[in-house]
Amino acid sequence: MKDGGTVNDSHDTGSAKFLSRREMLRRSVIFSTGALAARPLGKLAAAAEGFADGGMHLLAFGDYGTKGNGDQIAVARAMEAFAQKLGKPLSAVLALGDNFYRYLTPDRFDKHFEKMYSAEILNCPFYACAGNHDYGTAMYDYQPGKLQMQMDYAKNNPQSRWKFPAKWYALELPSAEKPLVKIITLDGSYWEGALTPKEKLEQRRFLKAELAKETKAPWLWLVNHYPLFSDSTHGDAQPLIREWGPILQQHPISLCFAGHDHTLQHLKVEGYDCSFLVSGAGGQRLYKIKGENRGFAQGRHFGFNHIHVTPDELTVQFVNTEGKQLHAFKRQRDGKMKVLSAA
Ligand SMILES: [Fe+2]
Repeated sequence: MKDGGTVNDSHDTGSAKFLSRREMLRRSVIFSTGALAARPLGKLAAAAEGFADGGMHLLAFGDYGTKGNGDQIAVARAMEAFAQKLGKPLSAVLALGDNFYRYLTPDRFDKHFEKMYSAEILNCPFYACAGNHDYGTAMYDYQPGKLQMQMDYAKNNPQSRWKFPAKWYALELPSAEKPLVKIITLDGSYWEGALTPKEKLEQRRFLKAELAKETKAPWLWLVNHYPLFSDSTHGDAQPLIREWGPILQQHPISLCFAGHDHTLQHLKVEGYDCSFLVSGAGGQRLYKIKGENRGFAQGRHFGFNHIHVTPDELTVQFVNTEGKQLHAFKRQRDGKMKVLSAA
């Protein structure tokens, strides 16, 4: 990705190499809407250096819950290496769903979460949400009660970093007294056998109420497992666009996090101010990129996100297992966004 927001080399289909000049211009305009003269991070080869004191640091990753395969381990080690290099406390890790693939036995919490992600280095809460593989319905990894097990583990082990208070919940970080960000975590499981009509209604009411509440946080994010928009296998999710699209358009939501498509993506979608992030490269087999090419999208590298939050600015990085920055951008309160040069 070149500085200035063009997306000529960020897709792995190969088709991006043959873009017409007109298409290049169109993408550049879409992606650099409200471009600001940001200082390129430049030196972020290590991706973890060069941040001034202050603000808050988070990581995000999704689709990681294998039974400890090599790629899950590689992402875990990369997150740890990043956190060590950063040398500043992490406020949270956003765990974007598909937390446990296949059959969930009680020992896996210890083996594939507590021990997989170093408690010493990644010493912060992991806020989880429900992926399709977490439900345990007939469609994916059948196991009645699988999702409840994950929420029960959080409830019964309050000392654990694993936090999963409900299918939908809101939190303010780093603290409710002095928040920098309000995060609304939702359950986008709008498929057969998952959310019931009653739950959908309850979640809708919850979301409305949370959006109506006053918050001191300058930033508002939406988190769930399923991308509304994706330039990969699952494509756009029409039921979720219908459900949450108008809300995203009416409220000052700056980042919309998802996983599910095993890729790393940062999309800018016409008609929406928010930055759409897909972070689904936490360990499960990667997907190919296809679709509309609405920004940065890659399915070659496993990795995770790092987000630095200050009252005035967000810096978001996509980092691979070698600690290399694949893509990064800054976003200001007024929505101005600038893609930064990759190292
Ligand atoms: Fe998924």
